[in-house]
Amino acid sequence: MAQPQSSTLGIPLSGKVPRHVAIIMDGNGRWARQRLLPRIAGHRRGSEAVRTLVENAARLGIEYVTLFAFSSENWRRPAEEVSMLMQLFISNLENEISRLHRANIRVRIIGDLGRLGPRLETLISQAHELTQNNTRLTLTIAANYGGRWDILQAFNALLRAHPEKAGAVTETDLVPFLSMGDAPEPDLFIRTGGEQRISNFLLWQLAYTELYFTETLWPDFDAASLDAAIQSFQQRERRFGRTSEQCCAPES
Ligand code: IPE
Ligand code: IPE
Ligand code: MG
Repeated sequence: MAQPQSSTLGIPLSGKVPRHVAIIMDGNGRWARQRLLPRIAGHRRGSEAVRTLVENAARLGIEYVTLFAFSSENWRRPAEEVSMLMQLFISNLENEISRLHRANIRVRIIGDLGRLGPRLETLISQAHELTQNNTRLTLTIAANYGGRWDILQAFNALLRAHPEKAGAVTETDLVPFLSMGDAPEPDLFIRTGGEQRISNFLLWQLAYTELYFTETLWPDFDAASLDAAIQSFQQRERRFGRTSEQCCAPES
């Protein structure tokens, strides 16, 4: 596969519809609290919002959707919530993979997967294997993922494979070892739930991504919410370091 273009080494092609959308799905807990429900009820509704999102993204022609499901810092939550999140992840994989496969969606799970337990490891391998040749959309789920972890694991893997490169590593050397090394960088980043931070998500890949923050809580994120994010994206001027005159002169 050709190496995807880097936003710092070149100017990526950027169309009207983002090729790659990366999302921090935040606000499940607050959605539940507003309804006097347990937090897990918010996570369950959040899973339903994922299903809707994937359908809408495929319909719009988005090629890559990357979702932050569980961060390397989320282990700090109460053990009961962590355990319920893992159970929900298991049942979502059990119940959704064949439907995603029928919809021609390639599923990838990224992160430090060794800590997720044997059942999840098996389901993840099965999902990868079953859907690897699908072409409609690549759905990447980040689980026990951290942007710093990703950069460090890529660097260490590169140096194991090419010890002679120590001291002279280039971007082009490193990128194939990153978890998302075969995908274009995200064009659009969305964070729901009102917080305006990256929370250790795709630190390397977000270098030139357009950032969009919304107060909408993740379980409420619907087709209209996605349309609003894309409309905002379509009004941005993506200069990648150039001047407005160089890149984005209005059509006469
Ligand atoms: C995001 O929703 C889901 C995960 C981090 C797993 P939260 O659980 O963070 O919801 P809030 O931020 O407490 O509302
Ligand atoms: C970020 O949400 C991680 C996921 C959505 C999986 P958090 O709710 O954990 O983020 P912080 O810790 O408040 O920044
Ligand atoms: Mg949160």
